[in-house]
Parts: sequence; structure tokens; C-alpha cells
Amino acid sequence: MSQGFDEPVNRRDRNATRWRAVEQATSEDGEPVIPLWIADMEFRTAPVVLEAMQEALTHGIIGYQEWSADFPQLFCRWQADRHHWAISPEWILPCQSVIGALDVIFHTLTQPGDEIIEFSPGFGAFGRVIRQSQRQQVTVPLKENGAEYILDPATLEACITPRSRMLILCNPHNPLGKIWGQDELRQIIAICQRHNLLLLSDDVHQDLHIQGAPYTSITSLSDAIADNAITFTSPCKTFNFSGLPVTNMVIKNPGIRERLRAGLVQRSIHKPDALGMIACEAAYRDGAPWLDALCQYLHGNVLFLQQALHQHTSVRLFNVQGSYLGWLDFRSSGLSQSMLEARLIKKAGVLLESGTQFGDRGEGFMRLNFALPRAELAQAISRIQHSFGHKNA
Ligand SMILES: Cc1ncc(COP(=O)(O)O)c(C=O)c1O
Repeated sequence: MSQGFDEPVNRRDRNATRWRAVEQATSEDGEPVIPLWIADMEFRTAPVVLEAMQEALTHGIIGYQEWSADFPQLFCRWQADRHHWAISPEWILPCQSVIGALDVIFHTLTQPGDEIIEFSPGFGAFGRVIRQSQRQQVTVPLKENGAEYILDPATLEACITPRSRMLILCNPHNPLGKIWGQDELRQIIAICQRHNLLLLSDDVHQDLHIQGAPYTSITSLSDAIADNAITFTSPCKTFNFSGLPVTNMVIKNPGIRERLRAGLVQRSIHKPDALGMIACEAAYRDGAPWLDALCQYLHGNVLFLQQALHQHTSVRLFNVQGSYLGWLDFRSSGLSQSMLEARLIKKAGVLLESGTQFGDRGEGFMRLNFALPRAELAQAISRIQHSFGHKNA
């Protein structure tokens, strides 16, 4: 059944963050700039989610809200059915947002000056929260290997010191769209165990499986690592309601879980808002068919993107397996990052997220969000082809 992914939804003049950034922006030839940056989708939020929220609005009172009694089972069933990940209901620790919870995690489980390791390129917010918490950010470069980035275990191990406390993994990885394979996950597990690192796995894109091997929760591979790990999950990216952040952490270790629960309560970020909870439950209860159709549509978009860039430009797209984010290599253009960004806005009329937002190895790269109707994606890509086509490279 068509889920309407081809239908444009006008978000201009709706105060959407994505569109606010390009409100006044035009290309040199006067075309409005197409925004392909922030991580939300240009598709209507999943209908089952909208219906559940509409029902709550019609009822008429948006008061303080609790989770339904069957929510923990619902969440566990979702993880088991979609990801073959067996978890117990008591391991779930809900909260509002990943970023808010990170701050609590760093303050609760580490000391100022402790080292927190992440991969580069990597999601910029990790580093920001690490630094704001007065912890030491250590970035481990992932290794370029053809159309993908891979882990070099020796490089990771070489970055570990006696002050290293925690490793952050992002699976699927933002901005690379990489789904980590089981061999690499096992290497990470071995290193974490050898050095007694707490593993933090941000899996908020877990449901967006586009192609290749499916997502595996790293904690499903080892009981020992599950005992020393925190996993973030969220329905917000998947079902497109990022404006109502809802996060469910999965923490097997009761000691870690209860310390974090207290930290979240102390900061009053332990409970998503009422509509967020209603949206989350509806998504996990009834959202699977819509999600299957979404992943299929996104797969079509990524194939289109790959082909359009490959045939007409020297811009390289790294393999996208999960999420709706593509990592583009513009290095063959020979442009500096500021010239590259300017050419994309001024000549092509598209706003992408600068690679430098994703750490010190982002120079020459841009992240492109391809979750939009295919005709709109085609328009944006034809502009990139025009400005970065073989004749311009
Ligand atoms: C991997 C990842 N983690 C976390 C977030 C932000 O999550 P939240 O809005 O819950 O803080 C994003 C948003 O793009 C993301 O891509």
C-alpha cells in the first residue's frame, strides 16, 4: 500500500528548524535553497502515530501521563521481533532525549578529566556534551576502505589510557549510515572488556535498515558486555516525530540503571512528555507496516542517489546501510571546506550539513539527508550534478 512518501508536505512557514535555516537563502540564480541537513524527514509522521495523538487531543486533556501497563512488553516485543534482541522489561529506562541523558551519564558515571572515546567521523553532539561536562574527548579515526569506513582495532586500542572510562558507539552510525557488522562489534567488545570500558551504544537509527546486513545490538553478542553497557533507542527518527523526543535506554546492570534513574529524576528529564509517550506506544504497537514501506522507499532513494552521483559527478557516496543519512566525499573538487559549502549554497542551491560538524576528519565531506520525496531529491541532486558535474570537477 502506498504510504504517501511521494507526496510533498509543505513545511515552509511552519517554523520547522530545517526550513528556518534557509528562509531567506537563494542561490545565485535566485532559486530558493533546498535544505538537506538536519536529521528529520520530509514525510508525514507515521499515520498510526498521528491518529493516536489526535485521539488524545480529541479527548481533551493533556495532563501528566504515565506509560501504559503493557508498554515494557510492547517495547521488548518490538526489539525481539525486529532485531532479535532479547531484553527484559526491567532493563528499560525511559527519558526525554539522548543528549540530555548523555550529560547525566557522564556526570553520574565518570569524573572530570576522565576520557570518553568516540569514533571520527562521528555525531558532533557527543563531543559537545563530553567537553561541556569537563570530560576529555578522545576521537579514534575510522579507516576509509573503499566505499566504507571500518574499525582499525589497533588504532582504537592505542588511544586507550588509564583515564579512559567509556566508549561511545553509534549503530547505525551517524553520519556514515554504516551498520556495524558482527565481526567489528566483537572486536569492540573484546577491547572494552580488556580495558574495562563502559560501552555506550547510540542505536536511535536501529529501525532504519536500508540495505546490506541487518542491525545487531552489540549487547546481544555478549552477556558480559551487556552488563557494562547502556543502549539508546528511540522511535523518533524512525516514525518522524523528533520534535517530541522520547528515548528508551536499555541497561541490564541494575547498579548502573538505578544510579542513572536517580540522576534523570534529579534533573527532571526522566519522563518524556505526554504526547511523546502516546506517540511512542502507538509506533511500537502498530507502526511496523508503515516502517517496512518507509525502509523500502528510502532504499529506492539511496539507489537513485548513488546512481545519479556516480554517473554525472565525481562526488562519492559511501555505502549507506542504515539511517537516511549519506556521507558524501567532495575532495575531488579540490575546494576548501568554506568554498565547498559556499558552492553548494550559492551555485547548487542546496544546504547540506558540513563534514566538519562531525569531527576533525570531516574536511572535504558533507552529510546529506535523503529522506524526502524522490522528485524533490531528484531536483536537489540535479542541482548538485550541475555544479559538481564531471565538467566542473
Ligand atoms: C545518532 C543520534 N543520536 C542522538 C540524536 C539526538 O537525539 P535527541 O533528540 O533524543 O537528543 C540524533 C539526532 O540526529 C542522532 O542522529
